[in-house]
Amino acid sequence: METKRYIIDDINLSIEQLRRKIEITEAASRLRAGDLVAFPTETVYGLGAVVTSEEAIARIFEAKGRPSDNPLIIHIGKKEQIYEWAQLVSKQAERLIDAFWPGPLTLVLPHRDHIAKNVTAGLPTVAIRMPAHPIALALLQETGIPVAAPSANRSGKPSPTSASHVWDDLQGRIDILLDGGRSGIGVESTVIDMTGEVPVLLRPGGITLAQLEGVVGKVETDPGLINDSQTPRSPGMKYRHYAPSGEMTIVSGNGEFLQDLVDQARAEGKKTGILTTSENVDKYRADVIIPCGDRKEPVTVAKHLYASLRQFDDRGVEVIFAESFPETGVFHSVMNRLRKAANGKIV
Ligand code: TXA
Ligand code: MG
Repeated sequence: METKRYIIDDINLSIEQLRRKIEITEAASRLRAGDLVAFPTETVYGLGAVVTSEEAIARIFEAKGRPSDNPLIIHIGKKEQIYEWAQLVSKQAERLIDAFWPGPLTLVLPHRDHIAKNVTAGLPTVAIRMPAHPIALALLQETGIPVAAPSANRSGKPSPTSASHVWDDLQGRIDILLDGGRSGIGVESTVIDMTGEVPVLLRPGGITLAQLEGVVGKVETDPGLINDSQTPRSPGMKYRHYAPSGEMTIVSGNGEFLQDLVDQARAEGKKTGILTTSENVDKYRADVIIPCGDRKEPVTVAKHLYASLRQFDDRGVEVIFAESFPETGVFHSVMNRLRKAANGKIV
């Protein structure tokens, strides 16, 4: 299959103007016909197919090499579409929607039965969000039907934060790539389960726990997120995700300890890499040293995280040592993704 790549760089256009662009109208009609379209969102790039076609959804799993027991997030272009696809939208859910949509927050709710079964991996619930990126919104509004979209990477690779990442992973496996430059936030949306009395955080992401609690009060955290011996309630969180090819270790000690580990690996003849931030980049010696944002501005670390992990692969690094971060605010999701990339290995 030939993948068409359309560059859309006039994102200062209004949603209405974007909807009339030929690239968007073509992508929307191809989606409605059951094709696969990758598009930018404010978090990471998504790989979309309409939620009404079981065959189209099956092609997403095939293109990504994704296990079929891992359900997809559905994306809507207008808030009121949620009532068509989810039921029991509680007062608390409404408050979260008012506060954070469009934006990087995904709500898990019971679904109405007309969604393709493979979107939800047979679960009684559906994960749903309204993204904030203008190209995503224009595409979704023009399509009219919700679009299921996992991150547009091959399964197990770091999520794509630029169109080139999508191209590298999925070229020839999808129909259209809408290239809208770099995505903004850099980590995926926050996933919150709204099916019980108390909301439960299933995946930390673009909206922090403190922001959520500011709107709905107490939010529990899925024990499976913290405790390795418990299965996470969000099926996707059990996989070793976001993984670079090199073997990664998170180092919670100081810089000297990290350097000692690097020196040992180098003595064994390994090609070494260090994931650090701009403040510390000059302190280390290794084959590849990547500054990932600025520790004083956590959002910059999130923004550059996945591109940094991909760079270690591009440069053939065999062992990677990553500095650790405090588990609060934006760093909460950074550490969650790092732990997955390191398969839980922290020293
Ligand atoms: O920011 C994002 O959310 C991006 C962009 C493209 O929107 N999408 C994304 O999708 O990260 P994906 O498929 O990579 O991650 C979806 C996560 C997985 O961990 C999955 O298990 C969980 O959401 N999920 C989906 N449906 C669920 C459900 N019904 N119950 C619990 N977890 C669910
Ligand atoms: Mg993903």
